[in-house]
Amino acid sequence: MAMTESKLEAWLDETRSFAPSPEFAQQANAQPSIYDEANADPVAWWRKEADRLTWTTAPTHSLDWDLPNAKWFSDGTLNASYNCVDRHVEAGKGDKVAYHWIGDAEGESRTITYAELKKMVARTANALTELGVKSGDRVAVYMPMIPEAVVAMLAIVRLGAVHSVVFAGFSADALSSRILDSDCQFVVTADGAFRRGTASPLKPAVDEALESCPNVKAVLVVRRTGGDVDWVEGRDHWWHTLVDRQSDQHAYESFPSEHTMFIMYTSGTTAKPKGIFHTTGGYLTQCATTHHYIFDVKPETDVCWTAADIGWVTGHSYIVYGPLVNGVTQVMYEGLPDSGGKDRWWRIIEQNKVTILYTAPTTIRTLMKWGPQYPDGNDLSSLRLLGTVGEPINPQAWMWYREHIGGNRCPIVDTWWQTETGAIMITPLPGITSTKPGAAMTPFPGIGVDVVDNDGNSVGNGEGGYLVITNPWPAMTRGIYGDPERFQETYWSRFPGKYFAGDGAKRDEDGDLWLLGRIDDVMNISGHRLSTTEVEHALVGHPAVAEAAVVGAFDETTGQAIVAFVTLKLTADDAAKDQVLVIEELRTHVAKVISPIARPRQIILTPDLPKTRSGKIMRRLLRDVAENRQLGDVTTLTDPTVVNMISELMGTESTSED
Ligand code: WTA
Repeated sequence: MAMTESKLEAWLDETRSFAPSPEFAQQANAQPSIYDEANADPVAWWRKEADRLTWTTAPTHSLDWDLPNAKWFSDGTLNASYNCVDRHVEAGKGDKVAYHWIGDAEGESRTITYAELKKMVARTANALTELGVKSGDRVAVYMPMIPEAVVAMLAIVRLGAVHSVVFAGFSADALSSRILDSDCQFVVTADGAFRRGTASPLKPAVDEALESCPNVKAVLVVRRTGGDVDWVEGRDHWWHTLVDRQSDQHAYESFPSEHTMFIMYTSGTTAKPKGIFHTTGGYLTQCATTHHYIFDVKPETDVCWTAADIGWVTGHSYIVYGPLVNGVTQVMYEGLPDSGGKDRWWRIIEQNKVTILYTAPTTIRTLMKWGPQYPDGNDLSSLRLLGTVGEPINPQAWMWYREHIGGNRCPIVDTWWQTETGAIMITPLPGITSTKPGAAMTPFPGIGVDVVDNDGNSVGNGEGGYLVITNPWPAMTRGIYGDPERFQETYWSRFPGKYFAGDGAKRDEDGDLWLLGRIDDVMNISGHRLSTTEVEHALVGHPAVAEAAVVGAFDETTGQAIVAFVTLKLTADDAAKDQVLVIEELRTHVAKVISPIARPRQIILTPDLPKTRSGKIMRRLLRDVAENRQLGDVTTLTDPTVVNMISELMGTESTSED
């Protein structure tokens, strides 16, 4: 029986933490001495961990640090794709399964061994070379969750080119702005994707995006859904004709450790997404090291399932690079949690004997809402460790995960990190750390974390403040593509000498860390980062909109949801329109301009917005309104009655939910 939130709180007060089980501790990859070893000399410790990789030239140099610019293992050379694939085959593990790929449709699956993966990557690298891709070129990847997406990423980095994976749920506009920002000259995509049995097209979005991207020379297209697609002769190439006819051998080149490996766009506080870029040696080292200790992977026996999309950093670090460097077997799933029924996930775990599951709190809350009968009806006894990422997890969801999925025996690792950090930074270590429902607990060995007040001073136990990172770490972003000033300004100037993450955090009475969510204008919708300005920008791009203010309001399932306050340019046409229609039109407009994940849950049409005397929109007040809280101080408002008026409008507007 699930407890009510208040009972749970009372109970947590008494129990507070779960000690690691002695059996788990005994066999764990991480032993308690790891903290002392790593923290005594983090740079030396990371250098030792870098030996998880096969270097063509072993680095003799570990860190060059000229704040905010770090270089890790700078005189080392290596090939990322060789480290993920070839070396496992050379070590005699070619027959080991790399991916059990499971399609959206019931019964559709593919098993790909490391030997097969090596051939696929070689063919694709040869095909990309034929298209003209060279070291340093940027290649956009806009793909559904199919094995070819991973193969494309590995083939791109094998050539020393740079992938920029754009989540396939993003619109044509979002895709083109990302292609333009990093001047990608190549795109890898598919004709479409399957979602709960329905084919949805992808290629038309690419065609539309490329109308404004004249530098794109070639598009490689996987046939996934079938059916007609528009074709630009000379530019577009089918994967099954071009890739399949290539040799399955490819001699790789080695690149310096600091060679750029990929760009991943993420929302900041302005309307323009930031192209966070990562380099090779340090990134791969931290992905492999964190994956080894935090998920306690035993490559011979474990089956890891990171239930994320390769369009986000979690997919990069824990579906592709960390697990492949470590040579483990994974499940990769194309569909939604309820493609083929609300028990689909649990059947996947039972059938594939998944041992390690990593997912987001928002998904756990959705699964929890559907009810325990779905997991309870399946044999989940293969599971031995659970992880979460992407947003703060509420204790209720944590407890449900522990009880119904983990059978009260699996340790849970709540892992905090960001696109910018490249790999996990704050987490319990299974077998060592006692866990508390809702807390990410402790910095990973070798990582320096602090919680500081407004002036940058460390807060004491029991106090909250801003999360900062105090030392360089191997997987840290090397910057914002093409914008070093914004990099310095966004992350390194708020607290000089420290990396400012943009998150609030608390140290509890025991000194353990709790993450409290973003403190800037970045919203976290189902674990997806979106900036309020990005959505406002999309809204004011609609001809009927005069002004828009967007806030992230609490939502039981998605963590936060988008609430937009909009004033209209009232043309006679608009005035004649039904308000509900206008609202629907605006919601659809935002989904089209950015992505369906950015579709506002609620839009409130208001004659005015609350502004300070200096003309700034008071988002804090609007957040209070959106979350039905008592309004704070409104004395700096030009017109305090605006807020009351909006509150009244909120009461009368219907919430339109999808
Ligand atoms: C949030 C995802 C609380 C946080 C890997 C961070 C979390 C942002 C956690 C990064 C967690 C991530 N607890 N909050 N365990 N993990 N976050 O770049 O606000 O998509 O700044 O990277 O997600 O999101 P991003």
